Amino acid sequence: MDAEIINDQAARRRTFAIISHPDAGKTTLTEKFLLYSGVVAQAGSVKARSGGKSARSDWMTMEQDRGISIASTVLQFDYRDHVVNLLDTPGHRDFSEDTYRVLAAVDAAVMVLDAAKGIEAQTLKLFEVCKARNMPILTFVNKWDRPGREPLELMDQIEDLIGLQTTPITWPVGPGGDFRGVIDRRSGDFVRFTRTSRGATEAPEEIVSAGEAASDEGDAWEHAHEEVMLLDEIGATHDPKTFLAGETSPLFVGSALTNFGVRHLLDSIIDLAPQPAARETIDGAYRPIEEPFSAFVFKVQANMDPSHRDRVAFMRINSGHFERGMQVTHERLQKAFSTKFATTVFGADRDTVEEGFPGDVIGLVNASDLRIGDTLYAGDRVAFPPIPRFEPELFWSARALDVSKTKQFRKGLDQLDEEGVVQVLRDLDAPTASPVLGAVGQMQFEVFAHRLEHEFGAKVELSPTSWAVARRTDAETAEKVRQLRGTRVLGSLDGTMFALFDSTGRLARTLADNPDWLLERVVETAG
Ligand code: G4P
Repeated sequence: MDAEIINDQAARRRTFAIISHPDAGKTTLTEKFLLYSGVVAQAGSVKARSGGKSARSDWMTMEQDRGISIASTVLQFDYRDHVVNLLDTPGHRDFSEDTYRVLAAVDAAVMVLDAAKGIEAQTLKLFEVCKARNMPILTFVNKWDRPGREPLELMDQIEDLIGLQTTPITWPVGPGGDFRGVIDRRSGDFVRFTRTSRGATEAPEEIVSAGEAASDEGDAWEHAHEEVMLLDEIGATHDPKTFLAGETSPLFVGSALTNFGVRHLLDSIIDLAPQPAARETIDGAYRPIEEPFSAFVFKVQANMDPSHRDRVAFMRINSGHFERGMQVTHERLQKAFSTKFATTVFGADRDTVEEGFPGDVIGLVNASDLRIGDTLYAGDRVAFPPIPRFEPELFWSARALDVSKTKQFRKGLDQLDEEGVVQVLRDLDAPTASPVLGAVGQMQFEVFAHRLEHEFGAKVELSPTSWAVARRTDAETAEKVRQLRGTRVLGSLDGTMFALFDSTGRLARTLADNPDWLLERVVETAG
């Protein structure tokens, strides 16, 4: 296809993820994006749509019980002549590795915070992971219709905890609970919002000049205006360069429930967030978007829907034009790969997808050969860098409770390892020895056990092991670590080697005694 068409299509696309603590308002905001883009005529229909219980698989029931989303879904909608791809992420630190994988597939992220809570300890890791990727982040302070913390205080907290300087684009007029509108710092105008019944339709906005706002809104305006002057003084002003480098984050204040500020945010995703651009390949070159088709797999999910019981690999297109049915090459296996079963997936609903452009995400159904990190391409060979596995923080062992179910147990173990539900760490020199299961959070083990039982029919017994901490290592250091007491070197599916230690003290001593050994964390976070 013509390079010009591909460039035009890529320029229209914005691919991003929302990251937030459970209950901060991600679902509500997503729904309001659909309202503002005209996909739904009235808010309220998304929840209704996903409420069909029969269409939900077992793990979805579990998600529902816990009120968290484990499985990411992808949503595509048009807004202002642009195509928006919104990728969902699990809102829980235990699944921060999944979040990290989704972030590999997007060009920007929206961080949603509850105004009353700010960054919460349990989700800190998710935001750190986001920051670690140096990706552009837009910040949405939600629930301003209720009493919350001072926005200046929230800005300080974000900077202190994750080192991200926020640069407010809008600033609230009226304290939390008496939210009247925002100052749009780009124009200096007051944007007055009006509530609609249950926030079911767009909130009307009225642009009011500063002078008029001062007489209409009195103290509330005065207070907001002073704070905005302070923001100007401290230089907390949007800067495209530092934003694109992931150093500063434009901040918006709003209320997803009443729709206040939703349009500002959505417009800014179009206006400020980057379009899909050339992607770095494994050899350090960049693959321009107008090159022939290429994509990489960032997520694999089996048994999403009990009525299908199949396996979907999600790929993000990095270059070229994708047409359903086109023959492409599976890079790792160097095999032809058919794309006949390309779909879009929204929760349990699927539609066939006919074509895609850079930035789009496509689900390939029954792609049993595809693993996370795999590249598909047309034309000359290309590979994108693997998505690194986190070093596990918890180490458990698992065995099938019923020995007659060993086969199912093994099958489930392999499948769930490939999906990254847990990491199955094996002794590379003794592949038949019992593996150690690694995870970042306890809930990963719960999902693992639940799915093994319900999808593979193998009930498992999980028990903790004596391993305490792991670091990524290489063959050279691994050789030396093996000589130490209280250590073990294990490998994950993608060949990453981890050195396990029976105590953090032993790791600390090993590091102090051998500063030249490679024992590293995959992503630096506070924990
Ligand atoms: P999540 O996906 O991030 O977990 O959050 P979700 O959108 O489900 O929102 C969590 C709760 O917060 C919901 O209330 C929702 O209505 C409420 N909420 C979301 N945005 C706002 C906001 O801007 N202002 C206020 N005041 N509340 C907001 P719920 O009672 O748990 O559910 P529901 O019965 O309202 O659906």
